[in-house]
Amino acid sequence: MNPADAVLDKQAAGAYRHWRLDKDADGIVWLTFDRAGTSTNTFSKEVMEELGAIIDRLAAERPKGVVIRSGKESGFIAGADVDEFTRIDEIEEALAIVRRGWDTFNRLAALPFPTVALVRGFCMGGGFELALACRYRIAVDEPGTRFALPEVMLGILPGWGGVKRLPRVVGPSAALDLMMTGRSVDARRAKRIGLVDAAVPPRVMENAARIMILEAPKPRSLPVVQRLMNGPLKSIVAAMARAQLAKRARREHYPAPYAILELWEKYDGDPFLPSPQDPASIAYLVQHPTAKNLIRIFGLQERMKSLGKDSSFQAQRVHVIGAGTMGGDIAAICALRGLTVTLQDTTPERLAPAMKRAADLFGKRLRDKLRVRDALDRLIPDVNGDGVRHADVIIEAIFENLQVKQDLFAAVEARAKPGAILATNTSSLKLADIGQRMKDPSRLVGLHFFNPVPQLQLVEVVAGAATNPEWAKKGAAFVRQIDKLPLPVKDAPGFLVNRVLGPYMANAFRMLDEGVKAETIDKAAEQFGMPMGPIALADTVGLDICAAAGKSLAGADATPPRRLEELLNAGKLGKKTGEGFYRWEKGKPVKGKADPVDDALVKRVMDPYLAEAKKAVDEGIVADADLADAGLIFGTGFAPFTGGPLNYLKNRG
Ligand code: NAI
Repeated sequence: MNPADAVLDKQAAGAYRHWRLDKDADGIVWLTFDRAGTSTNTFSKEVMEELGAIIDRLAAERPKGVVIRSGKESGFIAGADVDEFTRIDEIEEALAIVRRGWDTFNRLAALPFPTVALVRGFCMGGGFELALACRYRIAVDEPGTRFALPEVMLGILPGWGGVKRLPRVVGPSAALDLMMTGRSVDARRAKRIGLVDAAVPPRVMENAARIMILEAPKPRSLPVVQRLMNGPLKSIVAAMARAQLAKRARREHYPAPYAILELWEKYDGDPFLPSPQDPASIAYLVQHPTAKNLIRIFGLQERMKSLGKDSSFQAQRVHVIGAGTMGGDIAAICALRGLTVTLQDTTPERLAPAMKRAADLFGKRLRDKLRVRDALDRLIPDVNGDGVRHADVIIEAIFENLQVKQDLFAAVEARAKPGAILATNTSSLKLADIGQRMKDPSRLVGLHFFNPVPQLQLVEVVAGAATNPEWAKKGAAFVRQIDKLPLPVKDAPGFLVNRVLGPYMANAFRMLDEGVKAETIDKAAEQFGMPMGPIALADTVGLDICAAAGKSLAGADATPPRRLEELLNAGKLGKKTGEGFYRWEKGKPVKGKADPVDDALVKRVMDPYLAEAKKAVDEGIVADADLADAGLIFGTGFAPFTGGPLNYLKNRG
């Protein structure tokens, strides 16, 4: 705490459960948000009511200024209390929550003295809207500081003033982008786009806030072009944004980004102006099935996170064996998350491409030269495998060859620390077989990552017949440590994700052989809401990998699809070789015109996926249907607005 905070307004101290007021010698009130009973600040009804009372009092007392900050280690404010939001079943309750926040933040914005939001760590949703209602914003320049309005991802909109204020602060282009995608920005980017008045290091943050109040500079005004875009040119900007949006989301599937656009365009961001029937209204969005499904998925994501809560396991060093497509990227992600990683392959030449890819990834994700350098320092090439002896987690990602993997694990087990997790990234071999030559096969777990590793959040945590559940739990904790989502699965062919994709892709290949165009098949899947059709997906994954997965699922004797076989024989393996079912240019498939797609065709493309998902749940591959839904959404991008394949089947009846 700042020394000046020692001068306490006695009357204010202890009066509130979630907020603390300290007045310093300059007459500045330091308003600290420290929600009782939780480690993260979120806005519940009680929190908001207290804030309302505090604002009224400050309005009467007129201090020199107010600095709002967080009392939590974890960050600034995570947003509204989603638990509270998910419990409501009456539309009136939802509207009351919106009304409370909207009114409170309007009163905050109207305070007649300088107000500063001092943001350190995450600043999301309602927290972001609180910051927007302050006259000034200061961001602490640290890796954890991030601003986002993720409401759109829950199928709703920022109704506490975000849609109104953000375009005035950063201009409509940046504002619409942030609000319609839910994307986050760090402190430096926030400074560049004008979202914050200053981005400062932690040691000067309090001083910066104090100076901001004492000097009270004129708030930055928008450049003329942005003001025009927010005024007379609004409808042109909105039309352009709508056209862009239509390319990536259909309104019947995702109404929220359209509503955000219209609330800005027609109602200047006031959520109480549109009538409840208007698709731009909160009432419309909250009652739409998409919001229910997306909020449900949010809950499932939290559940998956909790599956990785094993506080007793914390890795510092990771050793990855095999620096190919998967191993290289797994190692890079671990280094990105702050772990020290040794990466082993047979020769330095085999390690080089993985190191190069890692450098590119660090550059893209960290942007800061020093942080990139530190991450690169943490990633150590290790041809001799010296890292095995020091690692807390050892991940094998070598060729899919049983005997070589068996030999490897026997050797690794002998050198590893007793407490180290021994994990394989195999996609098709049984853990019981891989661990056959180990002294203690109960240590072996599967950590099945998905390609591309940096993008896909899911990791299947496989427990084989011999695996001790405690090791699987540690595996899940490690998955959380590197910020991925763990899904415990049974050791059965294809686990969950590949097993469900198998029949779906095989069916698509059969349709191709019957003469349906690749473009038409992909269009049907996209029409359903998949991010990419099965044929483009096969090209992306690699046709050799698809063929191998197909064999392991359907048996080596099954007749392979004709067109797939032809392409394999011609060495056309998909995106990675520049041609597969499609020709690929600049990372994109070159597509011809699709034939018209009707509901029957959509059903024909999607039914094998849905049927296999149901079978996998019935056979207990995952604990329950909810986890299958979550796994398939985060592992295959299954249309999120449906709430997942099992939820979709339930609703379809
Ligand atoms: P890859 O062929 O790209 O890389 C394998 C690497 O392992 C090569 O660089 C090779 O030199 C190295 N290697 C082989 N034997 C070694 C040994 N004894 N010691 C050290 N290094 C050795 O293979 P990829 O695609 O990365 O697959 C690796 C594993 O991950 C396989 O088990 C595969 O089933 C699994 N997997 C692959 C996915 C994919 O989409 N490619 C997805 C999920 C899992």
